[in-house]
Amino acid sequence: MNEAKDINELLEQNKSADLLRFTTAGRVDDGKSTLIGRLLHDSKNIYDDHLEAVGKDSKKLGREVVDYALLTDGLKAEREQGITIDVAYRYFSTPKRRFIIADTPGHVQYTRNMATGASTADLAIILVDARNGVLTQSKRHSFISALLSIPHIVIAINKMDLVDWSEERFNEIKETYLEFAAKLDMNDITFIPMSALEGDNVVNASENMKWYQGTTLMNHLETVYTGAGKNMVDFRFPVQYVNRPNLDFRGFCGMVASGAVRPGDEIMVVPSRKTSKVKSIVTMDGELEEAFLGMSVTITLEDEIDISRGDMIVHAKNVPYVEKEIESMIVWMNDNPMSSDKLYQIKHGTRYERARFTDVVYKVNPDSLHREDSDILNLNEIGRVSMHLFNAIPHDEYSRNRGTGGFIIIDPISNVTVGAGMIINRSKKNEIKADMVGLDSHKSQNIFPQAGDVSHIDRCNLLGQKPKTFWMTGLSGSGKSTIAFELEKEFFSTGRPCYVLDGDNVRHGLNRDLGFSAEDRKENIRRIAEVAKLMNDAGMHVITSFISPFREDRKDAREIIGDERFMEIFVDTPIEVCSNRDPKGLYKKAYAGDIQNFTGISSPYEAPENPDIIIKTVELEAKQAVELILREIKK
Ligand code: ADX
Repeated sequence: MNEAKDINELLEQNKSADLLRFTTAGRVDDGKSTLIGRLLHDSKNIYDDHLEAVGKDSKKLGREVVDYALLTDGLKAEREQGITIDVAYRYFSTPKRRFIIADTPGHVQYTRNMATGASTADLAIILVDARNGVLTQSKRHSFISALLSIPHIVIAINKMDLVDWSEERFNEIKETYLEFAAKLDMNDITFIPMSALEGDNVVNASENMKWYQGTTLMNHLETVYTGAGKNMVDFRFPVQYVNRPNLDFRGFCGMVASGAVRPGDEIMVVPSRKTSKVKSIVTMDGELEEAFLGMSVTITLEDEIDISRGDMIVHAKNVPYVEKEIESMIVWMNDNPMSSDKLYQIKHGTRYERARFTDVVYKVNPDSLHREDSDILNLNEIGRVSMHLFNAIPHDEYSRNRGTGGFIIIDPISNVTVGAGMIINRSKKNEIKADMVGLDSHKSQNIFPQAGDVSHIDRCNLLGQKPKTFWMTGLSGSGKSTIAFELEKEFFSTGRPCYVLDGDNVRHGLNRDLGFSAEDRKENIRRIAEVAKLMNDAGMHVITSFISPFREDRKDAREIIGDERFMEIFVDTPIEVCSNRDPKGLYKKAYAGDIQNFTGISSPYEAPENPDIIIKTVELEAKQAVELILREIKK
C-alpha cells in the first residue's frame, strides 16, 4: 500500500510511468458510484481524495500551483480560466499501480462530461446494466471513447446478481456490443460480468460466476499496458511560460506533450520557425539527460530567440502542421447550438486562439453511426466541422497525437466550455497550400510553406465566391477557346472574377520551351494545373482551354487542383467537323505530314470517360454551351 505522506511524495509517485488514468461512463442507475466505491473499499485505499485538496496542500507548502498540473494535466489552466467542467478527479493507489479516475457524474450531460474527463484517459469503463443490455447511451459512450482514441475499453456488465448470474445473458450482451463496435475504431475491448453491489469480479473473483474465467476489474486495471496511445515519437513542447529570473538565465517551462528531447537536439520554434539547439533540460532536482511525454521541465537553448507562451518547441526535422483552416470532430456541449456567425475561443495546449466554425460537414448519429446532413450542432451532438482560426496554430492529428490534436472550445463572453474538438486532418485547402511549396513531396526539405495573415478564406470572402477550375478538353478546333471566352464574359458580367488560360497563349510564354511529344504535353498540363491552383487559391475562377489529350494528365491536373474544385468539360466535336472547320489550317498541314504528332491524326486523343459536362458543339452554339455549364454549376 502506498500511502502518500505529503504532497511532495505524491507528486514524486506520479512522475513514475506506472500510472493509469481511467474514466467511467454510465448512469447513476447503472451502478457507477457503487462501482467506484467498491473499487476503493475493496482495494483498502488509504489515499483517496479529490485533487482540489491536493491543490490546496501544494499552495500551503508554498509551491507553484503549476506543480499540481502533474496530476491533472490541463485542469489547472481550465480552473484558472474559470471554466466549469463537471469532472471530479480521484486518486488512489495499490501496491502495483497508481490511478487517477476522471469520474464523470452520470446525469444528462454525459457527453460533455465524458469528452472533457476522458481526453487523457488510458482506459474507459463503460457500465452496462445486465437487465437493460446495450442501450443508446452505452453506444454513445463507446462512440466518444473511440473518437477520443482511448486505448483500452472495459465493458462492465453490472448487476449480474439481478439476472441470476446468467452466462447466457452475458454472452448475449457481449455479442450485441461487438456487432456495434465493429463499426468503430477500437483496439482493445474487455468484457467483465460483475456485481458492484455484492463485490463480484470488482476486486475479488466472483463465487457466483464460476463460468467466467477472465480477469477481475482490479486485476485488469493493475496490469493493462499503459504505453498504448502515447506518442513517444514526435517531440512537442508547448511553452507554458518563459522563466527569466536574471539576465543570464532564460528558460522555457512547460510539459512535454509528446515524444522526448535531449540536450544537443536541433529544435525549431513554431510558428516562427526559428531554429536552435537544446542547451539543457532543467528541473527542480537538477539537469536531465532526457525529458519525455508528461514531464514538466524547463528547457534552455543555445541561441537567444524570441519565444512566448503558446509557442511550441519541436524537433527541427519533425514539425507539426501550422494552419488556420482545420477540420475536426467536435462534441458540442452547450444548450446554445454551435453557430457559424459567432466567434469562439479555442484552448489548444497552452494557447488561446479566436475561431469561427465555417461549416458542419456532417454530424454523426451515435446510435446507427450514420452520417447526417446538418448546418449546426446542438447540445451533445457530434460532427465533423471546418474551423477558421484567426492565427495559425501548431498541431497534429488527434489520432496520431492526443497531446497536440485536441482542444476545447470556450464561449468568450460567458467563459463557459461549450465543446471539445479532435483534429482529424488538414482540410483539403491546407493540403494544397502545403504541397504548393513542395512540403508533401519531401523533395525540398529546406522549403517551408509560408502563410501570411490573409487566408484563402479571407480572399474568397473578399471576392465573394468559391473558386473553381473549369477544365475544357477536346480536339484542336473543337471550340474550346470560343466557349471559354464566352464563359469568361458571362462570369464578368455577373461580377465573378475569373481568368482564361488558353493553349496557344500559354505556349507563347510560360510553356514556350515545350513541344508536342507526350512528355512535353504532360509537362504543359502539369504547369497549367499548378497555375490554375494558384489562381484558385487567390480566389479567381479559372477556365482552361487545352487539348489535354491524355487521361492520366487530366487526372493529375484534378489531383493538383483538388477534386472539389475541378470540373471537367468535354468539348465533344468529331474530328471530321474539326478538320472541316480547320480555323488555323493545321489539319491540312497535318494531313500533308508537315506537322508531327498532331492530335487526332498522328497522336491519340483519349476522350474523358466520365466528364462533369459534355458539350456537343455540332448541336449547341457557344452561348447555349455556356448556359449548359451554368446550369451544371448551379446543381
Ligand atoms: S496539349 O495537347 O498540350 O494540351 P495545347 O492545347 O497546349 O495542347 O496546344 C494545342 C494547340 O497548339 C492547338 O490548338 C494548335 O493550335 C497548336 N498545335 C501545334 N502543333 C500541334 C500538334 N502537333 N498537336 C496539337 N496541336 C498543335
